[in-house]
Amino acid sequence: MLTLLITGTNRGLGFEFVRQYVAQGAMIHAACRHPARAPDLIKLANDHPGKIIVHTLDVASDASVEHLKREIGNKPIDVLINNAGVYGGDHQNHGAIDFTNWMDVLNINTLGPVRLVEAFSENLRAGSAKKAIAITSQMGSTAGNNGGYFAYRSSKAALNNVMRGLALALKADGITVVPVHPGWVKTDMGGPNAPLSPEESVRGMRELIGRLSLGDSGKFFDYQGKELPW
Ligand SMILES: NC(=O)c1ccc[n+]([C@@H]2O[C@H](COP(=O)([O-])OP(=O)(O)OC[C@H]3O[C@@H](n4cnc5c(N)ncnc54)[C@H](OP(=O)(O)O)[C@@H]3O)[C@@H](O)[C@H]2O)c1
Repeated sequence: MLTLLITGTNRGLGFEFVRQYVAQGAMIHAACRHPARAPDLIKLANDHPGKIIVHTLDVASDASVEHLKREIGNKPIDVLINNAGVYGGDHQNHGAIDFTNWMDVLNINTLGPVRLVEAFSENLRAGSAKKAIAITSQMGSTAGNNGGYFAYRSSKAALNNVMRGLALALKADGITVVPVHPGWVKTDMGGPNAPLSPEESVRGMRELIGRLSLGDSGKFFDYQGKELPW
């Protein structure tokens, strides 16, 4: 049985990952900032006793990640999905930059996933699938940068860069590390005009994650498995 640790699972793509993986028969450590404010996730967990364990996690906090590590201990994890992220609001363009906000975006979007990989690499080594996924964005592609959104773009560009470094660092342990762009998806972040539903995006990413092997580690893919430029 596949065991996953997924962040940001109370809504959006994170919730949909939990919904689809539990339907597939997996066991999920579902992390979110405020379980008490996550009624959909709690209901899903209650509908699948023993299959979804809900944990409290703020990916921006070292202490919160350490607490989660103590809760999970040395239990094997097959797939880590670093999904939690923020867009960063309006003040991130030339002429109106909120630098404090930018630091928060970097802390959540870049340092957050790295905190999780650092804390749970032993668990991934003990797992059978050995995959660490980061939900990134095509907006982090330097080759495709068409301006604006400095905080979000730089946080995802840095995330991609570090995932590539981690792919090299963890290759000898057989751990596949891959950043994945989910497409433009109808969630609170993607907004109502996005062309993709969470169901379609996550179905594509699940198929991709299932196919990934160590030879793919350090590559950058979209939700359909197409390789993207850095
Ligand atoms: N939707 C798109 O079109 C799109 C496109 C490209 C990339 N992405 C990426 O896909 C991922 C999921 O996005 P989404 O569309 O599902 O966005 P969303 O609906 O806004 O959900 C974001 C999730 O991240 C969580 N989160 C934010 N800050 C956190 C923190 N410090 N600690 C723990 N959890 C935190 C949120 O929890 P709270 O409810 O507690 O805030 C929420 O569960 C993100 O990494 C995003 O950058 C999305």
